[in-house]
Amino acid sequence: MTDTLPDRTVDADGFRRALAVHPAGVVVITALSEGLPVGLTATSFCSVSLEPPLVSFYVDRSSSTWPSLRTADHFAVNMLAGDQADVAARFARKGIDRFAEPTRWRPGPLGAPLLQDVSAHLICLPYETREVGDHILVVGLVAEANVRGPARPLLYHSGRFGRFVAQA
Ligand SMILES: Cc1cc2nc3c(=O)[nH]c(=O)nc-3n(C[C@H](O)[C@H](O)[C@H](O)COP(=O)(O)O)c2cc1C
Repeated sequence: MTDTLPDRTVDADGFRRALAVHPAGVVVITALSEGLPVGLTATSFCSVSLEPPLVSFYVDRSSSTWPSLRTADHFAVNMLAGDQADVAARFARKGIDRFAEPTRWRPGPLGAPLLQDVSAHLICLPYETREVGDHILVVGLVAEANVRGPARPLLYHSGRFGRFVAQA
């Protein structure tokens, strides 16, 4: 005999605890909005499609960065390297200028800020956005990709930042 489908969803605490076990790479999404740099840390980044080349991330509906990000004509994905936990923490902090010192960045080819010393940058054009639950799915068409080298990635797991260790 099979169980019937539950008519309830997991409670928020159980959901959070289970998802914390799932490790994720860390990126900072940046854009230039009305001449000002904006950006936020995200672990919801992933690849979507090869042809056309699409990537995605989810942004919280309550994000104060989203209204600026949504009006930008392109955005950058900055893939953080293993020694950039401080950058990840800074771009998740409210009430500060995330682009002030000690953040090191430069304007990209189309204007969106590119963070220094990251593993790779993607320059993306808005492709689709969709409301999903309490987040907004943002899909970007990748116009340009630059890899800096075989840097190790920054990971996030169980509420902590860490580094990737390859098996011997
Ligand atoms: C490791 C980590 C991963 C995060 N991933 C996301 C994410 O995928 N989407 C999102 O909307 N917020 C994410 N956040 C939270 C945002 O970075 C943070 O709430 C945001 O920068 C708050 O500022 P804002 O209101 O200016 O957007 C993450 C935070 C951390 C520390």
